[in-house]
Amino acid sequence: MIKIRRLNDNLNIEGKRILLRVDFNVPMNDDSITEDSRIKKVLPTIKYLINEKAKIIIIAHLGRPKGKIVPKLTLKPIAKKLSEYVNHDVMFLNESIGSLVVENSKKLPNGKVMLLENLRFHKEEELNSESFAKELSKIGDIYVNEAFPCSHRAHASVSEITKHISSFAGQQLIEELNIIKMLTENTKKPATCIIGGSKISTKSGVIINLIKKMQNIIIVGGMANIFIKHKGYNIGKSIFEENQENLIEGIIRESKKNNCKLILPEDVVISKNHNSKGLLKNLDDVNDQDLILDIGKKTLKNINKVIDESKTVLWNGPAGYFEIDEFSTGSKEIAKKISENTKNKSLVSIAGGGDTIAAIKKFKFSDGFTYLSTAGGAFLELLEGKILPGIKALEKNE
Ligand code: 3PG
Ligand code: MG
Repeated sequence: MIKIRRLNDNLNIEGKRILLRVDFNVPMNDDSITEDSRIKKVLPTIKYLINEKAKIIIIAHLGRPKGKIVPKLTLKPIAKKLSEYVNHDVMFLNESIGSLVVENSKKLPNGKVMLLENLRFHKEEELNSESFAKELSKIGDIYVNEAFPCSHRAHASVSEITKHISSFAGQQLIEELNIIKMLTENTKKPATCIIGGSKISTKSGVIINLIKKMQNIIIVGGMANIFIKHKGYNIGKSIFEENQENLIEGIIRESKKNNCKLILPEDVVISKNHNSKGLLKNLDDVNDQDLILDIGKKTLKNINKVIDESKTVLWNGPAGYFEIDEFSTGSKEIAKKISENTKNKSLVSIAGGGDTIAAIKKFKFSDGFTYLSTAGGAFLELLEGKILPGIKALEKNE
């Protein structure tokens, strides 16, 4: 157990520039925010800093612009949303480093908030660059990490930065970390992990490690397609990642070795495109023109049975394209089943990740889970038993 420095009441922060790293990587539809749990989650900290009359400079990322300026991934709409929550105009700067930013950070009145542009417009952020972290450190007197959902990334604003400025963990980060640890340390068995999302390559390490801890792993969403293809079925025009055969074989092999049941879709809902009607199909019947957009009834029945037999269920990644009603049944029914069992059979359930939380909220099952985490990848890596780089970076040296 590492000891981390916490932001606390003994620090005199009046007039000090607090460089606050948050995770505002929220689901967006053009420039409107479709789900804002991650913003709401850190409001207590922002309001605390406002009350303490600090100058609050917020840094964050949105999407994966890969070091380029991608106008639709600007954080500007978030400044607008934040202004409503803090009851004053949040100043937005379309840069995240440099002399203009430093100048403005100093001029910011006490108790006011400023938001900087998407950190990932600079490639140095994801490279955990020392010089970029040094530039960032000039914008604050004290750094606070309140970005639990991206603390599994060894990026400059989460990791390297703590070497160059007095650094602390925020209250929400500590709370989320402690709750997830408490609920998962002595997991009640059988334990099941439901994993969705589009890319297998980003989650294969997590899956391999979870296979050793879980009795069941259920794979849904876009990443299930490659398993279906691997079994020799046609997946038509559905999304899948090329050249992942070794990963898939590794996952199948490890699950057998560790006696972990791997549950995959047996039937699917397809469509010709995202806007036309869904059609239930057996895997055998999928043709070249089909696009798999949800799991089918037989699959759901299997999943419900596994949930019924489980004492712990962890969920990250929707089962289908839940934003469109036609393809939302899989995610909705999973949320419903978990919620019923949490209420009636004392199932311990945790769901995490931006899209997963958005789905659960959409179907109004938020109060049916033991805990909803704002984090997806970080939540899964914590389950693996990893020490997250962002948390490690806050370790006390004394
Ligand atoms: C997330 O949403 O998972 C975090 O904000 C981290 O983003 P990333 O997965 O693009 O690194
Ligand atoms: Mg992620």
